[in-house]
Amino acid sequence: MTDYPEFASSVISELPEKGVISCSSPSNIALIKYWGKRPIQLPENASISFTLDSCKTTTDLSYRKRDVEGDDFDFELFFEGKPKPDFKPKIESFFERIYQYLPFLKNYAFTIHTTNTFPHSSGIASSASGMSALAYCLMQLEKRINPDISEAEFIQKSSFLARLGSGSACRSIEGPVTVWGEHSDIVGSSDAFAIPFPSPIHPNFENYQDTILLIDKGEKQVSSTVGHNLMHGHPFASKRFEQASGNISLLKEILTSGDLDAFIEVVESEALTLHAMMMTSLPYFILMKPNTLSVIQEIWEYRNTTGSKICFTLDAGANVHILYPDSEKKQVLEFITNKLVAYCQNGQYICDKIGLGAKLL
Ligand code: DP6
Repeated sequence: MTDYPEFASSVISELPEKGVISCSSPSNIALIKYWGKRPIQLPENASISFTLDSCKTTTDLSYRKRDVEGDDFDFELFFEGKPKPDFKPKIESFFERIYQYLPFLKNYAFTIHTTNTFPHSSGIASSASGMSALAYCLMQLEKRINPDISEAEFIQKSSFLARLGSGSACRSIEGPVTVWGEHSDIVGSSDAFAIPFPSPIHPNFENYQDTILLIDKGEKQVSSTVGHNLMHGHPFASKRFEQASGNISLLKEILTSGDLDAFIEVVESEALTLHAMMMTSLPYFILMKPNTLSVIQEIWEYRNTTGSKICFTLDAGANVHILYPDSEKKQVLEFITNKLVAYCQNGQYICDKIGLGAKLL
């Protein structure tokens, strides 16, 4: 019995012999953060993110039908052209989780080639783009096997499968703004998959920019899975989940009204709360670096003196995402190159913007 029978595959008749499928899928940046989950990969609160455009993973999935169906999964994995054995256990457990929804997985030998557009070990989460790209490739194969699947089912199941690889990955299948997690104010929302933000988004957010300052490219001290688990028994957990839920309602209004001052307040508060949760868990940890705080101070000063609508958000690391309207692009890039680059490791930063999600190449 599957947990979500609506995502079970129909009976397989004929399986294609072999082929290659190439897809790309972007990373995303959460505005309302997902931090805390229950088994299996279900969020404790709803989250909302901007899907990114140029920070993405490209995955080529080669498949060859095995002579007889195996008892195990048969796959090889290459990252930027080289075998990557340390990624294999994560993919293996992803396959275990999704096998009940894609029963053809054991009928094939797969070779997976994957590359990222952003620099290796830049501290940018690659699980969202990587897992969504792989889920999307596998769904393309599912579609070859079961061509009757509707576009809506295809997209929803892609997000559902991506979630089982990494929670935030389910928010990367579509864009420009997606919501994951059931919430009474968001029609059609679900814990099982993400949906596009269901109301029209104000033109203020069109082409919204995200410049990612690479403050520290070191290995993460804490994996996000460990971090999520530290919310179990966390002294502030239930208040935090309540707060996130209230922030979803606020952001819903803001995205439709285009109120950028209110946007700044919710987004920056969410970023700092995420890090406050880390600082107040047991064990406690601090992922921000001195330069993260310096950048935040500079942003606040710039905003006070210029009236700009720029703001920051953070993921589970030291890097700073700077969000701003397209109309301010020129001035903000000047501010970044004049002031903020000095705080970046090797002067590195990445210019990205809101994007549309996974694609078949
Ligand atoms: C801080 O999706 O990476 O970026 O589900 O364990 O794979 P797993 O975690 P992951 O967590 C993302 C946490 C975050 C906030 C967010 O993206 O909402």
